[in-house]
Amino acid sequence: MNKVEVIRVGDLAPGEMQKVEIDGRALCIAHVEGHGFRAIDDRCTHEDESLSEGWICGDSVECPAHSSRFSFLTGEVTGVPAWVPIKVYDVHVEGEVVFVDLDSAEARAAC
Ligand code: FES
Repeated sequence: MNKVEVIRVGDLAPGEMQKVEIDGRALCIAHVEGHGFRAIDDRCTHEDESLSEGWICGDSVECPAHSSRFSFLTGEVTGVPAWVPIKVYDVHVEGEVVFVDLDSAEARAAC
């Protein structure tokens, strides 16, 4: 486990997201209505656009470049043209602090 602090709970209202650069990675941290705080890689698997510049649509994020969508819950592509899933990270909220386990996406991919 490589748990790192990314934001404070009050930094994102439901429906908001932001890019966080940490430990050499760019993450998209989102407060997804009905699903709490979620973390995925920020770079779209289609052509590297920043997903945090896009929009939250239900439990997915829509890329601002060509409208691909990825599930915040599973990382699966929910809208083309992308076809490669996005990495999803485990999120832990402790008090007012939101943490991401940077090792969790690799662990999940190895399963
Ligand atoms: S860069 Fe994201 S859909 Fe093309």
